[in-house]
This record gives sequence, structure tokens and C-alpha cells, in this order.
Amino acid sequence: MTSRLDGPLKVTGGAKYGADNLLPGMVHGYVVVSTTAHGEITAMDVTAAKGAPGVIAVYSPFDSLEMRPAETPLFGTTWVPLQDREVTYYGQPIGLVVAETYEQARDAAMLIEVSYQERPAVTSFENGIPTAEIAPAPRPGVEAEITVLADGVESIEDALAASPVVVEATYSTATQNHAAMEPHSAVAEWTADGLIVYSGNQAAYIQAAELASALEIDVESVRCVNPYVGGAFGGKGRTSVTAFLAAAAARALDRPVKVVLTREQVFTATATRPATLQKIALGAAEDGTLTAIRHDSWSSTAMDRSFVEPTSHGTSREWYATPNLAVSQRMVPLNVPPVTYMRAPGEAPGSFALESAMDELAIALNMDPIELRLRNNSTAPPGHDLLWSSKHLDECYRIGADRFGWAERSPDGRADGDWLVGMGTATAMFPAIRFPATVRVTLRDDDTAEVGTAGADPGTGLWTVMSLVGAESLDIAQDRVIPLLGDSALPPGGLSGGSTATASVGSAIMAAATQVIDDLTALASSAGAPFEALEVSYEDGRVLAGGRSMSFGELLRATGNTTISATATSAPGEELTKHSFSSFGAQFVEVRVHKWTREARVSRMLGVFDAGRIINEKTARSQIMGGMIWGVSAALHEGLEIEANGRFANADLANYLVPVNADIPAVDVHFVQYPDTLHNPVGAKGLGEIGTVGMAAAVANAIHNATGIRVRHIPIVIEDLI
Ligand code: MOS
Repeated sequence: MTSRLDGPLKVTGGAKYGADNLLPGMVHGYVVVSTTAHGEITAMDVTAAKGAPGVIAVYSPFDSLEMRPAETPLFGTTWVPLQDREVTYYGQPIGLVVAETYEQARDAAMLIEVSYQERPAVTSFENGIPTAEIAPAPRPGVEAEITVLADGVESIEDALAASPVVVEATYSTATQNHAAMEPHSAVAEWTADGLIVYSGNQAAYIQAAELASALEIDVESVRCVNPYVGGAFGGKGRTSVTAFLAAAAARALDRPVKVVLTREQVFTATATRPATLQKIALGAAEDGTLTAIRHDSWSSTAMDRSFVEPTSHGTSREWYATPNLAVSQRMVPLNVPPVTYMRAPGEAPGSFALESAMDELAIALNMDPIELRLRNNSTAPPGHDLLWSSKHLDECYRIGADRFGWAERSPDGRADGDWLVGMGTATAMFPAIRFPATVRVTLRDDDTAEVGTAGADPGTGLWTVMSLVGAESLDIAQDRVIPLLGDSALPPGGLSGGSTATASVGSAIMAAATQVIDDLTALASSAGAPFEALEVSYEDGRVLAGGRSMSFGELLRATGNTTISATATSAPGEELTKHSFSSFGAQFVEVRVHKWTREARVSRMLGVFDAGRIINEKTARSQIMGGMIWGVSAALHEGLEIEANGRFANADLANYLVPVNADIPAVDVHFVQYPDTLHNPVGAKGLGEIGTVGMAAAVANAIHNATGIRVRHIPIVIEDLI
């Protein structure tokens, strides 16, 4: 087990985040945000602000920065601020004040008077449900409504009506913010070679593409540098407003500009996870075999319809075997900040509903919840023919039940003094995906090797994984491998999103290492080289032939080279036509609910996961632990309170609750390790997101076991348990 290479730097303050870059002549921008949820800005009086001490410039929709919306293949259109006078949510960026110091910019921003022609705002998700719209397809080839029916079945309603046992209920989940520790920020500088931007992001090469598009410049002249990222979770996928504003202002002023959001602004000037409402009906035979699943979902979205939480689509792409399935996905446009991907988009809130419903079905059938799930274990995604490449969910449940002491669970919970104690379980699934990635491997004459790609490590452990896969592929010790990451000047790849980075980058490292070793052995046997005309092999970092060997560094020196490099790309291909791919897991939670105060506390938790090969157990466990804790957070703590006027009432870390140490007991994580080389050469299936899937349901199910109270919305609060 290897500790995170970047760990010491991060905990000692040595890691340089975007905002830590202090450049000569740098000035500071403060973002101005709207104080209405819907309307047109009719005037902005910036006279006082412009005259305030230290102020250099004030930008607004009336005196804008030169930009246009960014267009990229991955994200489509990304909004950039100050290009029009429309306000569609409270807290929308509408101005930028640039001054010599941050404090001067902030003080001046307070002097700006904004006039609005206000319009009625729709901010209540519940009120918007009746006017919901059909959601766009979440990805190519998938419709917003999917129905799969067995031969002779006319409709999902008929299938449910014919089912001996039916449970039907409505569940809801709250709007959440990623609330990463590092607020969104950027430092931008224009040099003779072009633009350099230091800004935390999930992929340097994608940020460079978005900035180039927005600023209408050649992508070759943009360099994005983000070696360290203080958390992202989907909230730093798109380029942030800070990067767009800093880059455009630095161009206008010909000075380096730094822009940092306040914590409160992070909640509105970035994006959130949507709220969801989900109606589920499950039909089953007396023996627990599912006969029908209906899952209708509503997701909040912003007026730009930027994103929909694909909760129903999770049910149709991974979960249970059923002959009859109908899902629908609708969206409710509101005057709220943009919505976007957040860790396990779709599956996180979707599994709260589906896995709560499965618990309710188990109770209706008087059946053990694990047995019910295993009885409906699927060999392929519902309604699809391509079998899972590798699935060991049953083993996860078997090991988990044993490790957790599930056999001691009583259907009615138990009491321990003044505490009501219950156990709950839930399944976790998240699709195994990978993206094309390109990696350059460079062998150096000091016997070290670089492996580089332009992605990012937002705290996931990618630095460490790259060094391990590099060491294995080059057959050398890990401390001789130097990973390079977080710089768009490197070959494109390594997006940290969709739980894809290890499979994507790892496969490309293997390909590039094979190539560089071929090139090295060819060099060794070339004319005039030490192994001229011999059949050269490679092992243990050395070239061998004719009973002699040299390290690659020695060979490079002997041939007058300082380095030898190879670049290779690995991308998904034919395997997608042969199998379906997913990671799987079983979550276990024990809760204690106080008999009199009704506080709910998680006292034990265990997750057992089938995520293919685990490259590094320590960083993998950290990822899963973080996800499980986030699941507890979703269940018991997190949720944005949206006032009628569209303002977030709790947009700060004092009132937007996330668990602290005292809320979280020891977290037990176990992996069953079945490398999935049908998916990619590395055999890793991805585990960045699955840790959070199922957790909220496991908590709610445990609370039901302890108290007999079924709570169908999260976060669950004390009032729900009275
Ligand atoms: Mo993520 S929600 O995989 O960026």
C-alpha cells in the first residue's frame, strides 16, 4: 500500500493551489452577484466603486469583458458572465471589480448600485412539478422514457396489476452543493507565448479548450496549470467563472489578475446537484422475484436547462433483472443556479429511492433484504443483451453480511438503553466507463522515468496511481517514476470525472510504456550501439543481450541520448459491443436513534466493493470512505434551503451541514478483487463515485429498522423521527 505522493505537500501547505500563485504586478478581482432571482438589469451605478481606493476597473454587462460562451465537444456550451443583462438566479455573477488588493476590490464592490426590472421567479421545485418538461436524452442512444415489456404484456400498469405484491411510494432528495474545500479561483497571466491560467479543475486540457473558445484564441496559446486541486466532485468539471473572468480581465488590463470566490459565492456562482422527486412502483412474485419496476423522476434544473439528474436512467442501466421496466425522466426549470454533475450523478439520489423501495418490498414480502436483492441479481442491464463483463455482487453481500454481523439483525431492531438500534443495507452500482487518454512516457539518462498526461488529481490519488502503473509497466521501482499531471501542455487525457481516470490513464501508460521499451531495445541494437545487431530484451529496467545487460540510463548515456520518449493513446473500442460494464457494492449501516431526543447517529458502516483490480488499496479505500461519508451526509445533513426569492438561506459552511468527525464512526471498507481486463488492460473498473451510492438508503433503511419510521426524503431530520 502506497501513501499519496502529494499527501505531505498537501498537509504541510507546500502544495500550490491556483490561488497560491502570486505573480509580479498581479491585481485582484472581486465578483459581484445578483440579488434577485429573475429580471433584467436596467442600470448599474459604478461611479462610487470606480472612485474607491485602489480600483483599476469595473466590468459589468454595460462595460463588459470580451468573451463568448465556450463551446467544447465534452460540455457543449458553457455560460460565461457579463454578456447580457438577463438575471435568471439569485447569486448570478453580474460584475467584476478589479483593484490593487482583494480588500479594495471587495469594498468597492459593495458600493455598486444595481437596478433591476424584476420578473416573477419560479423557485419552488414542488410548485414546478405540474409544469415539468420531458428531459433531453442523457447520452446518445438513450431516450428520456424507456419501456421494456415481456411478450404479451400491454403496459407497465398491467404488469404491476398482475403482480402479487406491489409497493409504491414517492421519494425526494435535496439540492446539494459540492462544497469543495478549495473555493473556485483563478490566476491568469498573458505572456509573449499566450495565456497561462492557474485554476483548480478536473482536466487541464478541457479547461484550456473552454478558455480558448470563450476568448476566441488558438488553444495552442492557452496553458492551464492545476497540479493540485482541493476537491472537485463534478463541481470543477466545467471551467469556473473565476477563470473566465480572470483571463478576460488580464487581457483587458495587460496585468496578471486573480479572482477568488467567497465561500458564499461558491454556492451560487458555480453549480449544484439538482433536487429530485421520484415515484417508484415495484411488483414482485411471492418469492421476491421482481415482475415490474416503474421509476418516474423529476429533477430540478436551472432556466438554462443545463443538466438533469438522471435518477431513472440509473435504474434502467445497471440495477435489477425484471421482465417489465418503465422509466421516465422529467425536469423542472427554476430560477436557481445552474445544476451539474455531482459525485455519482443519477445513481446517488436514484439509489436512495430505489434501494429504499427495495427495503419496503422486502418488508412487504417478509423477506430478508439481502435475500431479496440476490434473488433479483441481474446478469445484464435491464432490457439489454450484453452480459456484465464481471459481477461479484453476491460475494460482496456474503462477505459483508458476515463481516457486519447481519445475522444478528432483528426485523424490529433492538434497544440498547435509551438508544434504538437498527441495521440497514443497500446495493451500490456505478457504470465502469473510460475515456480516450494519451500519455507520454520518457525514460531519462539518470534511470528515472516520467509518465505524463494533462488531466488532474482533485484529491483522488491519480498522482500515486500513475506512478504505480508506470513502475509496473516499465518494470522499475515506483520511486523512479515521476508522474506529470495538471498541465495542459502535456498530452490530452486523464479527466478526473465519471470514475474513469485510473482505467483511462492506466491503459494509456501501458501502451506508451510498451512503445518506449520497443524503441529502447531498437536503439540498443542499432548500428554503433552497445548491443549492435543482437536480439535485445528488456527486464527490470535493463536491456539484455548476449549475456550482458545495461540499465536504460546507462544505455542512453552510452548512445549519447539524454532521454527517449513515446506517446500513446488508449481508447474504448470493440469491447463496448461485447459486454456491459459496471462496478458493484454492498453497503451496510448501523444507526442508533435516541428514544427521547430522536437524534440519529450512524454507529457502524461497512462497504464491500467489486471495482475490478485495485491498483493501490490505500488511496482506493480513501476514495470509498469519502464516498460513504458523503452518503451519510446526504442522508442526515446536507441540503440547500431555497427561500421563495431564490436566495440560498444556508450558503455557508456553518449552516450547510456536512458531517464532522464526531458524526462518523470507523468506516470499514473491503474489496473483492477481480481484475476486469475485458473492460481495459489495467483491469480497474473505477471507484471514485460508487462509494456514495446506496449509502443514504442504507441509513434510511437502518432508521426504519430501529424505529419503524419510514422516511422517504433526505436529509432526514429529528422532526421526521418524532
Ligand atoms: Mo464527477 S460527478 O465524476 O466529476
